Order: sequence, then structure tokens, then C-alpha cells
Amino acid sequence: MSGRRGFFVVIEGLDGSGTSTQVQLLAERMRSEHPDLPVAVTAEPSSGPAGSLIRQILKGRVTTVTALGQSQPFDRKALALLFAADRLDHVACEIEPLVQAGWLVVSDRYVWSSLAYQSLDAPMEWVAQINRFAPPPDLLIMLNIPHAVGLSRVNATRPGREIFETEEFLAKAEVAYQEAMAEWRATPVCILDGTRSKEDVAEDVWVAVRQIVLKTSSLADENRLNWI
Ligand code: TYD
Repeated sequence: MSGRRGFFVVIEGLDGSGTSTQVQLLAERMRSEHPDLPVAVTAEPSSGPAGSLIRQILKGRVTTVTALGQSQPFDRKALALLFAADRLDHVACEIEPLVQAGWLVVSDRYVWSSLAYQSLDAPMEWVAQINRFAPPPDLLIMLNIPHAVGLSRVNATRPGREIFETEEFLAKAEVAYQEAMAEWRATPVCILDGTRSKEDVAEDVWVAVRQIVLKTSSLADENRLNWI
């Protein structure tokens, strides 16, 4: 390795906004056009111990039982803490070691997912607080999509639904995401229209990432990229 620090890029958006597709397309393109830069694709919830538990909870496969023997869903504030714990584990075991070693790490979701989704069950300020040790990425890409479009994409591509994949919840998360974008102002943010074809979105993701990673600012097109 060169000893040069790498980059950490995050792609965010509502369920069905195409974050998983875009992290993959970005990694493929970077590998083919710049094979000298190693790329790692990752996601939250992570594949670590806390992330695996979270995935079980999201699928409704974990129920809790009170001291009086009544079953009830897993507590949502406890879940917010699990997401924050998973994030720090993810940073410590995957993101930071790879970035230190010169890699480009692209994560499907990060702190803004917690700010948007967990703020529906607890104050956003508290959610920000429990995530304060998570380091800011070098670039945040937000894929904007109306919740109804996201939900219909989810329904068309997957059989069961996870606990947050309801019309009511995602409608509120859509609004909360806008507020969440105001957090961590120091992070460069690129907001894209996620309703377009995956190829069109991928092109804009590529332009944004090149600006940060390969410092090709001449490619900037103010009409297509919304920097805040
Ligand atoms: P998702 O990206 O949809 O994973 P998959 O496509 O594998 O199901 O993420 C799972 C859900 O977790 C999604 O509804 C968003 C939610 N989530 C939070 O509520 N808070 C968080 O901090 C993160 C990372 C995800």
C-alpha cells in the first residue's frame, strides 16, 4: 500500500431508492476504470454481531417477553442503540482499517438512516448524540425518492416486508430524512433524484465520487448535482 489514506463514501435513501444497486454499480465502474484504487462495498446493518441481530429483529424474527409473560416487539429505542453499536463496530472492524490502508469504502447506509428512521421513535437530537463517535464520511450521496415509489419497488422485488417497510412509517421517514440532511453540515452532500433509471443515477453518482476521490472537479455540472 502507498500509505495514503483512502476514502469513505456513503449512499443513503429510503427503502426502494436503489442504494444497494448504486453501491454495486459504483464499485464495478471504479474497479474497471481505476483498478489501482481498491474498492470495498459494505452496508448497514453490517455483517457483524450487532448487525446480524438487527437483521433478525427487522424481519420480525425476534420477539421479547415481559416479566409477566406477555410477548411484545423489540423496544425501538433499544433498537436505535443497537444500530449505533453496530455502526461503531462496523467503523472499527471494516471501514477505518480499510480507509487507513488506502481503500475506497462505499457503504449502503450510515448515520443518516438512523437519524431518519430512529427519530420516529425518539428525538433526533438523541439519535445524533448516540451516533456522535461515528466519523463523518468524505461524501454523502442521497437518493431522493417519494416513499410511495420506494414502497412499490420493494413490493415488486421482495416477498416479505421488514418492520419499517410500511406506507405510514416510510411517509414519515421521507420527511425526517430532509431534516436529517441538515446534520453534519461539514460533510459534502450530493442529492440526486432517485426516481430516474439506474443508469442515469449511476452516472451522477460516478461524477460526484470522481470529484471527491479523483479530484476531477472540472466534471461538475451544477444542474445535475445539488451540493449543499
Ligand atoms: P436495507 O438497506 O433495506 O437492507 P436490506 O435491503 O438488506 O433489507 O436496511 C434495512 C432496514 O434498516 C431499512 O428499512 C432501513 C433500516 N435502518 C434503520 O432504521 N436505521 C439504520 O441506522 C440503518 C442502517 C438501517
